[in-house]
Amino acid sequence: MLILETIAEIRDFVSKERAGGRAVGFVPTMGYLHEGHLSLVRRAQEECGPVVVSIFVNPLQFGPKEDFSVYPRDLERDSRLLEECGVDALFHPPGEEMYPGRHRTIVEVGGITGCLCGTSRPGHFQGVATVVTKLLNIVQPHRAYFGQKDAQQVLVIKKMVEDLNIPVEIVTVPTAREADGLAMSSRNVYLTPEQRAAAPILNKSLREAAGAVSKGERDVKKLVAMVSSGINGVEGASIDYVEVRSLPDLEEMEILEVPALMALAVRFGNTRLIDNIILGE
Ligand code: PAF
Repeated sequence: MLILETIAEIRDFVSKERAGGRAVGFVPTMGYLHEGHLSLVRRAQEECGPVVVSIFVNPLQFGPKEDFSVYPRDLERDSRLLEECGVDALFHPPGEEMYPGRHRTIVEVGGITGCLCGTSRPGHFQGVATVVTKLLNIVQPHRAYFGQKDAQQVLVIKKMVEDLNIPVEIVTVPTAREADGLAMSSRNVYLTPEQRAAAPILNKSLREAAGAVSKGERDVKKLVAMVSSGINGVEGASIDYVEVRSLPDLEEMEILEVPALMALAVRFGNTRLIDNIILGE
């Protein structure tokens, strides 16, 4: 596996692959890889020729009080995992390569970034949209792969790619879960053993809501109350939001129209976890 740090090197690699007629797959990550990331890699390998993975902890998508400086990093372990998976190239640019001092442009997707995680993490989606635009322009893949766990992120990226006519196909891959249903996340390592034992309530209560929908429940307030009371019953869990929104525009609704996104963010101490389910799928 090639490990490339400069934009010139990764562009050179990809342009030779494209010239050889191969479809390039791209998996952007912030590292500290887990099975969820590897499921994106495997999907990319099924559908593409060479697969490029990027590891870049993007300062722009963290708020001033968020965990940028302590975000878990382990390049040696990540490189080994990617190598074992048969990834062709790892793009691991230093901060100055991505944001030289003179960087002044921000990409903002309107509307769908002003709710859910956009409310509690102001500026987060500008940071994501900006870095993903840059990465897509740098790598120029045929397809890029994102996890459904970050449902709002995928919607934002799809809209941005459509609006800005970026020539790439965005592929959404189902959320990878632990055996007890907890969505895999690099942030799960922050959980204490007690918090880790309690965290599967997120997926459990979402599945209960989906079960109620399949039995005919259409009252969004009732669905939200059902999920909230399940989570509130767990010690140490504090709800940031539980909401049902339309797809793909993330509009509020009172009477459920399917398919819809039920998404939540819950804090366990300082650790904020997210999860979601598509209702009526
Ligand atoms: O999902 C992530 O890991 C990040 O938000 C992404 C897409 C790599 C952008 O930094």
